[in-house]
Amino acid sequence: MNILVLNGPNLNMLGIREPGIYGNESYEALVNMIEEYCESKAIDVTCLQSNHEGALVDYIQQAYFDKVDGIVINPGAYTHTSVAILDALKSTGIPAVEVHISDVSSREGFRQISYVSYYCFATIMGEGLDGYLHAIDLIEEKIGSEI
Ligand code: DQA
Repeated sequence: MNILVLNGPNLNMLGIREPGIYGNESYEALVNMIEEYCESKAIDVTCLQSNHEGALVDYIQQAYFDKVDGIVINPGAYTHTSVAILDALKSTGIPAVEVHISDVSSREGFRQISYVSYYCFATIMGEGLDGYLHAIDLIEEKIGSEI
């Protein structure tokens, strides 16, 4: 099984940006945690991050051609604005889980809409960085149940 973990804008600033909301761990620490977790489960994982909407669309499309089995995506602020990222996910048909480090449901009104949630089969929020591992578990269960 191979999984793409995709992070959007400003998630490369983890550990620096608003630590009261996003914690003290860096993006590099997040990637290390995900890679170790996946290694322990014999899952191939690729972690990518971009601050650019079009690059995120390109990575999602490439996942189709690379025959990726599942996508974990935190689109950052593009969650609340990007029909293009939603359409890219829909184009691939790859099972996807949406992750937010913070509990967006208890934040500003403009964070209450998520375009990718129209496609993702689950949304995890407010679990900090562990939410990514939870999302990987959900992808694994979903793919396992479809075989
Ligand atoms: C976020 C929540 C978004 O509203 C915000 O724009 C982010 C991070 C989260 O992980 O909690 O950049 O997706």
